[in-house]
Amino acid sequence: MNNDIFTGRLVRLSAEEPETYAENFSRWWQDSEYGRLLDMAPARLFSPKRTKEWLEKELEKDPPPVRMFGIRTLEGDNLIGFVDLSGMTPHGDAFVGIGVGEREYWGRGYGSEAMSLVLRFAFTELGLHRVSLMVFGYNLRAIRAYKKAGFKHEGRMREMIWRNNERTDALLMGVLGEEWLAQFGGAPEGK
Ligand SMILES: CC(C)(COP(=O)(O)OP(=O)(O)OC[C@H]1O[C@@H](n2cnc3c(N)ncnc32)[C@H](O)[C@@H]1OP(=O)(O)O)[C@@H](O)C(=O)NCCC(=O)NCCS
Repeated sequence: MNNDIFTGRLVRLSAEEPETYAENFSRWWQDSEYGRLLDMAPARLFSPKRTKEWLEKELEKDPPPVRMFGIRTLEGDNLIGFVDLSGMTPHGDAFVGIGVGEREYWGRGYGSEAMSLVLRFAFTELGLHRVSLMVFGYNLRAIRAYKKAGFKHEGRMREMIWRNNERTDALLMGVLGEEWLAQFGGAPEGK
């Protein structure tokens, strides 16, 4: 029996107040590279007030359409990003989204561990069958992080993305609960 399923070696998944998410989301989106890695919509900016209003509405819904977690470092307890599960279907699938907004933490293992923690939650608490995601072909760091966390490449939407006057494919990736449990034995990658 796991004691604390929300804590890894580098990070823990946290619950944050809408104000805290809003202030940080708004600041992270100021970095247009972050937004353009994360989202298909044209780069955009959000004020903290509008972000808070949107989040409060989402979180009020019952059941909430998005299960949102903050990502906090164990060392220093800094909020560095978010990870969420959304679009849960009656077939046991959900989409995962993740963003490490504090770019000094990119490429240091924090994102893949947060992803592993949310997969553990998805498979061992929610009983989901699979978790899916979409990633842009130019986001090599994310693709590598997802493979480390157990995702497999499942599909490709050719030339789906237009950025910097170039067309890029969008990749579909997925992981099955039984595969993940066989690979990691119920413990997040690295733990
Ligand atoms: C994607 C994201 C969550 C990954 O988290 P992370 O903490 O940066 O990733 P990790 O350090 O756990 O893993 C990244 C891996 O990619 C490697 N990597 C880093 N930059 C790379 C690059 N340019 N090309 C290829 N691999 C790269 C790292 O070396 C590491 O692999 P390794 O452990 O085998 O050495 C985070 O970078 C992020 O949020 N970026 C901005 C927003 C974003 O892209 N969101 C995802 C949208 S789908």
